[in-house]
Amino acid sequence: MKTLIIYTSQTGFTKKYAEWLAGRTGGDVIELKEAKKKEDAFFDGYEAIVYGGWAMAGKLVKFDWFLGKSVNWKDKKLAAFCVGGSPRENPDVDTFLASALNEEQKKYIKLFYCLGGINYDKMSGPTKLLMKMFVSSVKKNKNASEKEREMAETISHSYDYSDIKYLDPVVEYLGGSVKLDT
Ligand SMILES: Cc1cc2nc3c(=O)[nH]c(=O)nc-3n(C[C@H](O)[C@H](O)[C@H](O)COP(=O)(O)O)c2cc1C
Repeated sequence: MKTLIIYTSQTGFTKKYAEWLAGRTGGDVIELKEAKKKEDAFFDGYEAIVYGGWAMAGKLVKFDWFLGKSVNWKDKKLAAFCVGGSPRENPDVDTFLASALNEEQKKYIKLFYCLGGINYDKMSGPTKLLMKMFVSSVKKNKNASEKEREMAETISHSYDYSDIKYLDPVVEYLGGSVKLDT
C-alpha cells in the first residue's frame, strides 16, 4: 500500500517515529510544513496517509490541517500517531486519545500513541522556559499529590523512551507485517 507519512516535530522524537514508520512500510515521509505547500494532486497517488505529531498540554500538535484534509481522503486508509512523554498507562493519555477525534472522524481515522521523551537540548527557548515554570510550580505547590511530584521530577530532565515497537499496531493497521527486519 503506497503510504505517505506527514509529521511535525520540535525535538526529534516524532521525526524518528515518522522515519521508522517509513522504513517499515516502504512509505514516503514529509514534514508538515512541506506537505502544506503541496497541491491536492500530490496526495492522490497515496493509498494510505498517516499524520504524526507530538502531545502538548493534552493536544495533538497541528492536527487541524490533517483533520481538514482528511474529509476528502475517506477513500484512503488514514491514521495518526501521537508522540508523548507520558507512559501509555497514564489515564491522561486515554482522555486525550478519546477527545482528539470526534465521533465522525473516528470512523475513518485510527489514532495511536507512541512513547517519546523529553530533550531539553533541542527544545526552543520559550518552550524550555514553560517547562521549567511548570516543574517549579508543581514542586512548590504544597497540595500537589505524590503522582504530580513524581511526574514533575521525571520531566525536569531529558529522557528517551522511544522504541520502534510502539509502531507495531500502526504497521499492522496499515496492512504490513509487524515482524522487524533484522
Ligand atoms: C510544553 C510541552 C507540553 C507537553 N505536554 C505533554 C502532554 O500533555 N502529554 C504528554 O504525554 N507529553 C507532553 N509533552 C512531552 C512531549 O510530547 C514529548 O517531549 C515529545 O516526545 C516531543 O516530541 P518531538 O520530539 O517530536 O517534538 C509536552 C512537552 C512540552 C515541551
